Amino acid sequence: MAQTYDVVVIGAGAAGLMCALTAGYEGRRVLVLDHANKAGKKILMSGGGRCNFTNLATGPEHFFSANPHFCISALKRYTPGHFVELVERHGIEHVEKAPGQLFCADSAKPIVSMLLTECEWAGAEVRLKTRITSLERRGEGMRLETSSGAIDAGAVVIATGGLSIPTMGATGFGYDIARQFGLGVTDTRAALVPFTLTSQWRERAASLAGVSCSVTVEVGEGRYREPMLFTHRGVSGPAMLQASSHWQPGMALSIDLLPDIDVAGELATLRHEAPKRHVSTWLGERLPKRLAQAWCEWQGVTEKPLGALSKREVSRLDGELKRWQLKPAGTEGWRTAEVTLGGVETQAISSKTFAVEGLPALRFIGEALDVTGQLGGFNFQWAWASGVACGQSM
Ligand code: FDA
Repeated sequence: MAQTYDVVVIGAGAAGLMCALTAGYEGRRVLVLDHANKAGKKILMSGGGRCNFTNLATGPEHFFSANPHFCISALKRYTPGHFVELVERHGIEHVEKAPGQLFCADSAKPIVSMLLTECEWAGAEVRLKTRITSLERRGEGMRLETSSGAIDAGAVVIATGGLSIPTMGATGFGYDIARQFGLGVTDTRAALVPFTLTSQWRERAASLAGVSCSVTVEVGEGRYREPMLFTHRGVSGPAMLQASSHWQPGMALSIDLLPDIDVAGELATLRHEAPKRHVSTWLGERLPKRLAQAWCEWQGVTEKPLGALSKREVSRLDGELKRWQLKPAGTEGWRTAEVTLGGVETQAISSKTFAVEGLPALRFIGEALDVTGQLGGFNFQWAWASGVACGQSM
């Protein structure tokens, strides 16, 4: 005999747990299934272990999707304020690390505990280490075959996330199910991911690994003022992670290493006012010393006094500092990406209930969908909001 539930949620991550507890409070009999041995693994590793669980500035302009209006309804109905209220009800201390970005004060663990406690209070059962081998339509509902037996469900919610960090349990399950039921899946790409560089630049970056500075980076339609970080493989830090969502192979990043400084103006003045000062001394007062030193070596101006710079050289240095063209070799890919850009197409999915058009027993939420946030807590806010909207409509 098959087990029966009103709602089966596949994926015990941020969106799945939120949906399950909401549907549970709506009086539904809910089961959450996950193949992993732990719920909310990505929550635990997020935000450097402290989970940037929301962003107070959440709005559709911070999301990428082929259907940019799709996210509006859910984000409006469940706001960052609602999640903060939940977090505070559970006594979880949090801090605003950067404007609008709320993180746990100590660790992400209490967020997962909070979600599991709420699931328990709402009567939603969470079953881990369970493989789903098939999902078929059965009457008005769905039939699942799993490693823990057959299950009949009034509705199934796919909350299996995207492809990033396969070692944490990420799979393309949501995309396979979407295709099985005739939905489209957009191209997917690793995003919020560090860039890798080719030989000469890779060596240069590696020699500066750990050095960071605040830059403005532009690529495609993206423009971000954030810190960048040199790594052993290339460049990372919030500026580069954000840029990766706009980058396509072959594109160069345009980096302003001194976004607050009129380099051409300053150098033109200092050529006369401080002619004996070295370029490296000037730059060392404006960039981290190691970076300033290395940059002057790359440009062959380490020993050059400002007074000896020609107008042409000033213009060249201005270009290299304000519009540095850096062409990544690629990205670190799914291994370290925070999110998947693209996913299940939303055209045939209700933005109110997250049900598939013509098949209300099948729903998709969270990162599995073609809705991807910028860096800064937006992706979790989408997971919470889509989970709540779907759970409330069960
Ligand atoms: P999520 O990936 O959380 O959950 C999916 C669940 O489905 C997992 O438990 C998985 O095991 C399960 N699953 C997958 N395939 C399955 C299958 N075939 N059968 C059964 N179960 C299956 N965002 C943010 O807003 N702030 C932040 O600080 C960070 N930081 C961050 C750091 C790192 C390192 C990563 C990788 C990601 C982030 N993110 C983030 C992004 C954020 O973690 C992500 O967008 C949400 O977790 C997505 O929530 P979902 O519930 O949709 O998927």
